[in-house]
Amino acid sequence: MSTLTIFSSVPARAAEAAPVATSRPIPAVLGADLEVPVKGGRLVGYANLDYAASAPCLEPVSAAVTAALPAYSSVHRGAGYASQLTTARYEQARHTVRAFVGARPDDAVIFTRNTTDATNLLARCLPAGTTTVVFDTEHHASLLPWQKSVRLAPPAFPGEAVRAADAALAGIDGPKLLVVTAASNVTGELWPIAALAHVAHRHGARILVDAAQLVPHRRLNLTALDLDYVAFSGHKLYAPFGAGVLVGRRDWLADGEPYLKGGGAVRSVGDDTEWHDDPEPRHEAGTPNVLGAIALAAACDALTATGWTALVREEERLIARLRSGLASIEGVRELSLWGDDHPRVGIVSFTVDGYSAREVAEVLSGEYGIGVRDGKFCAHPFVRHLLGETDGGCEDGTASAVRASIGIGTTQEHVDRLVEAVRDLVNR
Ligand SMILES: Cc1ncc(COP(=O)(O)O)c(C=O)c1O
Repeated sequence: MSTLTIFSSVPARAAEAAPVATSRPIPAVLGADLEVPVKGGRLVGYANLDYAASAPCLEPVSAAVTAALPAYSSVHRGAGYASQLTTARYEQARHTVRAFVGARPDDAVIFTRNTTDATNLLARCLPAGTTTVVFDTEHHASLLPWQKSVRLAPPAFPGEAVRAADAALAGIDGPKLLVVTAASNVTGELWPIAALAHVAHRHGARILVDAAQLVPHRRLNLTALDLDYVAFSGHKLYAPFGAGVLVGRRDWLADGEPYLKGGGAVRSVGDDTEWHDDPEPRHEAGTPNVLGAIALAAACDALTATGWTALVREEERLIARLRSGLASIEGVRELSLWGDDHPRVGIVSFTVDGYSAREVAEVLSGEYGIGVRDGKFCAHPFVRHLLGETDGGCEDGTASAVRASIGIGTTQEHVDRLVEAVRDLVNR
């Protein structure tokens, strides 16, 4: 079996080291000095601990968009200089994203609105009769788009995920697709995607990896991991300008029904319509989100230039501090599928005895200026499983959790403020 190459070797609860010195500076985010009102009318610096929902904009991303705006013009349609420049920037963004995920030279790179749009696009392009195998742990964006799917229960350990996928794929005839999230948006835990890709291919299946929560935190190499498709969102990658992407094998995408029908997707329209069979124009009808694509590419460039070692080490230092702080508070329980020591990205979900998740989130915001997410995080089956709940409630404050998530721009003070705020709440 392949090694789980994306798993970090740094233990999740590593001793708290001194802040990491980086050789190249980690870029700043916009809004680092945002002040927000708290109870009593005071202003405090905002502690944004909700990166997994949407990350703040990186300064180099904002700069790239600002630089592109004066020449902003139509793409793929105009002979004017500004149009040519904007088209070149848009196509360059595609190359940058391709390199960022280590795609094969002939992979398609299709700009979408977000991850949800990307998974739905692929769902519409599956060959007739394709069966999708998907775990109940998925975000709804990866759980719901499929016409015909086999749902697998949350596996008790990573090897069980591989075994369950193996057994399910073995029992399916015809085209098959395994869909799996690389890093859980609920627990942050990393999934054994290399091993799952290996199993999928052994059964003649393909694999789609939902990388929405992975790419802001870890390097992803589609070719090295032998993945068929990956999807992710710009707004979680410090590029909140409305673009996402689907990257992967061309054939299904070239044969699939054009996602949107309109200008740009067609070669000619007469009595018959001749659609492009290159996946990019075929599925990107209408004027695309050029600035979104430029922003997404700028984020890829900025993360690559900073270097993953520095980013990962700083994130692991802060998440270890956050987790051990929360673990030291009686009545606080962290949600985890595979245990404390399983590698994870900078996401922690937890419950606080005696308080609903909504109450905790409101106190954190209203009294401490801390932004977190509460609810089931668009992963209802998984959160219910982790909480041992069977109710059908949604984002109503019952059977839900609080999620803190970090990234570039998170400081030790933010993390400490959250831990002390939860401790104060519990001690009231
Ligand atoms: C793992 C995962 N997949 C997919 C999505 C959907 O992303 P978007 O809302 O950008 O489509 C999310 C969003 O939270 C996510 O965390």
